[in-house]
Amino acid sequence: MDIYRKKQRWKQILLLAAILIGVGSLWYTNRLVNDIKETERQKVELWAEAIRILNSADFETELAFPFYVIERNTHIPVILTDSEGNILNHKNLDSLKVRDPSYLQRQLEHAKEENDSLVIDLGNNEYQYIFYRDSILLRKLIFFPYVQLGVIMLFILVSYIAFSVSRKAEQNEVWTGMSKETAHQLGTPISSLMGWMELLKESELNPETVREMQKDASRLEKIVDRFSKIGSKPTLVESDLNRILKGSLEYMKNRGSKHVEYLLDVPEAPIRAKINETLFEWVVENLCKNAVDAIQGKGKLLLHAVETDNNVIIDVEDSGKGIAKSRFRTIFKPGYTTKRRGWGLGLSLSKRIIEEYHHGKIFVLSSEPNKSTVIRIILKK
Ligand SMILES: Nc1ncnc2c1ncn2[C@@H]1O[C@H](COP(=O)(O)OP(=O)(O)OP(=O)(O)O)[C@@H](O)[C@H]1O
Ligand SMILES: [Mg+2]
Repeated sequence: MDIYRKKQRWKQILLLAAILIGVGSLWYTNRLVNDIKETERQKVELWAEAIRILNSADFETELAFPFYVIERNTHIPVILTDSEGNILNHKNLDSLKVRDPSYLQRQLEHAKEENDSLVIDLGNNEYQYIFYRDSILLRKLIFFPYVQLGVIMLFILVSYIAFSVSRKAEQNEVWTGMSKETAHQLGTPISSLMGWMELLKESELNPETVREMQKDASRLEKIVDRFSKIGSKPTLVESDLNRILKGSLEYMKNRGSKHVEYLLDVPEAPIRAKINETLFEWVVENLCKNAVDAIQGKGKLLLHAVETDNNVIIDVEDSGKGIAKSRFRTIFKPGYTTKRRGWGLGLSLSKRIIEEYHHGKIFVLSSEPNKSTVIRIILKK
């Protein structure tokens, strides 16, 4: 299993765990809420009984206990009404707001929604009703799991952002360090090779051999130039894209498979865009190499460029094996490869060059299995 599939699997497991914790916490709090609701109802029933005793009290009735019960309720808001709905008494409501009759009325409506009322039978067909609201504790508890979930989500989000920012920074450093070190290490032997070649030219060696060696040395020089530009801010210069695309295609024609047809489709007039030639050429080369790798047997590689009002669009199209839709984004991640000898660096480097250094875009425009793939680059003019 490749690391990206593993990562995907881990994300799914974590998401599932988060959902389970969320559902578990909701379920548990719900049970608690129901238990407390039941306890509160029992308290209100006791309260109702105390009111009933007080209402039907005569001289001999022991009043201390009912009074005690009534006084003890300090947290459940209750409203007592007669059978016409007139409010006779209330307890545990906001002592300042109760002066406003509309506030009392609103509380009564809330109480009717929250709990069933209790009836006090006073005898002689007279009844009083007790309405009560959930206590503040209970109301807080109902919202608690949502607050808890919110906090957990926020925590996960913040950690995820912090983690990916630090990982990106780390990746950046690795890229830059490796590129600079490569450029540095290659630099010295190449200069000396060039010197030796100058000497060889003057000796009796076959000039063709020297020319070929010189080509290789220049290629090495180009590679050093490319690597040395990673990590420093490259200068962008207005350049002719047609020429660069033609050059890259020419290079592929000479080095790539002979079974591939190499085609260029660009307008007559040069397309100009602000680019860093060395780096942009590297991107096109990477895309062309991937395209040729994807073509097993006979096939076509087409470089296509057009200009719009603000952008330049470059499409690299091949008739190769294609890319699954689920991999459209993954292929740009460092280390993702399906090739035996691949490093999975070509596309992540290309993305970096296009997005960070040229402020453009690079993505898979379309792909059909065993038919075609189009990778698109969009540059600003
Ligand atoms: N045109 C294409 N058609 C089909 N698959 C592609 C194409 N371009 C890229 N891929 C897939 O994306 C993967 C990553 O490409 P990338 O260029 O980053 O790495 P690589 O070519 O495998 O190795 P490297 O470029 O480092 O030598 C490839 O291994 C291949 O599976
Ligand atoms: Mg590649």
